[in-house]
Amino acid sequence: MISDIIVIGKLKEYILKRFYLNVFLLIISFGQSYSQTYENGAVSSSHRLATEAGVDILKRGGNAIDASVGVGFVLAVVYPQAGNIGGGGFMVMHLKDGNNTSIDYREKAPLLAGRNMFLDANGNIIDGLSTLGSLAAGVPGSVAGMLYALEKYGTMDRASILKYAIDIADTGFVLEERLAAAINSYRKDFDKFFGSKAIFGQGLNAGELFIQKELAETLRRIAIEGRDGFYKGKTAQLIVDEMKISNGIISYEDLETYEPKERSVMKGSYKGYEIISMGPPSSGGISLIYLLNILENFDLSSMGYASVESVQLMTEAMRRVYADRSEFMGDVDFVNVPWDILTSKVYAERRMQDFTPGMASSSAVISPGDAYYRESDQTTHYSVADRSGNLVSTTTTLNDVFGNKVIVTGAGFLLNNEMDDFSSKPGTANMYGLVGNEANAIEPGKRMLSSMTPTIIFKNNKPFLIVGSPGGGRIITTVLQTFLNITEHGKTLQEAIDLPRFHHQWLPDEIQFEKDFGSDLTRSDLKKMGYTIKDISDFGRVDAIMLDENGNMTAHTDMRGYGFSSGF
Ligand code: DON
Repeated sequence: MISDIIVIGKLKEYILKRFYLNVFLLIISFGQSYSQTYENGAVSSSHRLATEAGVDILKRGGNAIDASVGVGFVLAVVYPQAGNIGGGGFMVMHLKDGNNTSIDYREKAPLLAGRNMFLDANGNIIDGLSTLGSLAAGVPGSVAGMLYALEKYGTMDRASILKYAIDIADTGFVLEERLAAAINSYRKDFDKFFGSKAIFGQGLNAGELFIQKELAETLRRIAIEGRDGFYKGKTAQLIVDEMKISNGIISYEDLETYEPKERSVMKGSYKGYEIISMGPPSSGGISLIYLLNILENFDLSSMGYASVESVQLMTEAMRRVYADRSEFMGDVDFVNVPWDILTSKVYAERRMQDFTPGMASSSAVISPGDAYYRESDQTTHYSVADRSGNLVSTTTTLNDVFGNKVIVTGAGFLLNNEMDDFSSKPGTANMYGLVGNEANAIEPGKRMLSSMTPTIIFKNNKPFLIVGSPGGGRIITTVLQTFLNITEHGKTLQEAIDLPRFHHQWLPDEIQFEKDFGSDLTRSDLKKMGYTIKDISDFGRVDAIMLDENGNMTAHTDMRGYGFSSGF
């Protein structure tokens, strides 16, 4: 009897505990799905803990660059789907003195890489080789890039910035439902690699404390030794050893010689707004400006959001821009990218001469790829603004969700599978259905073409919007639509981000509609014009900050993700 009471008591206690845990998980998994306005500084990122670290850095007097680097390192701990030290990214900055600059810390092909490394003897792509396992990894750039930014443009010391990430890796954080589910859904892949199996192999439960001691050690080495703590010594040796275990080709020399590059930003304008974004090796800035140059000649506002007219016009613009992306864009250090032509107003106008309102044009069909590739929380964007006028827009990635699924044994971090962003075989689609050509062929030391579009927009010379997104090839059109939803369709920042989107990328020749995008009439009218419409799952996770003319900052994180924005 007494033991029955004890059992029932224990059961009640257990049920209550589960209940509180679930309520807690529900709260954190929602993140912050409404926007708020701040005066002194704001951060929007894909994870609450990363945003909180960024806000804390700003409150302690750090600038937006300090905060961005802090956010980047914390994301490597709490958002392993995409946050990383084993991948790469781009940071676009507007500095308080009025200067603009960008840092390219994109991965590069290892010195042993070769043009046909993913092809079999018959010249066909070997399935999975550019996406799973160590051969898929480019030489990571994130640590070098973030430290470069911190040293040159930040104000705080490395150890104080890295402390946030180290502490969370050391003491753990509560695993969100979505992250636990994502990790568990890839267990079959993780189990193929020794280091990944050791960490993810047991399966993880939502609500569990996730502690990453090896990652904490790696981050500590970076805090103490700077870039040498990653690109030389123990961490570099662990990466090279991993290559031996899982058939990769990144060498010690590849790591030692990796350099981030500071590059001029790509500049454009649209109806009185000034745009700065990332140039090559990203296609993002050129493509965004090219799209805006085309659309500037039309009255999108009177056509209306998601109307048949605006969708058709934008589709035809996207078709042309993505066709040029696949032909002309690549790493400017290796190929000549005619960015000045592609971003000129004259070229944009000429390119639309064969556009007929009300009629679909057609893309030549060349090995269309799998454009319905599952989209989750791959790649991540974060936006930071400080009180003194520094604005930072950063997008970073491992490419696929959890990169190549290889955790470097003994070092606790995932590697990227960015090699898939090269064109492994001209005309054949990569995992995002994007086709490429000579300009984006693999060469040792070359950076693979990206679509990441970290962007800052100004209105009357004053900061207006910090914006960017994940989404593979759809990043560019996601950023485009967020901006146009505000400026042409009068939406608030929150609406502009959360409203359904669409996408066209030349090949495959179809308009991809996010669930709930466009009315039945819009759909049927487009079909009558000759368009194919595909319904796809949601895409993009925008983390943005909008500034009013007094400098007040409204921050919002996409409701599609579980991010968080905050400020003070
Ligand atoms: O650099 C690029 O364009 C890609 N590696 C980005 C991948 C991505 O956005 C995945 N997101 N869903």
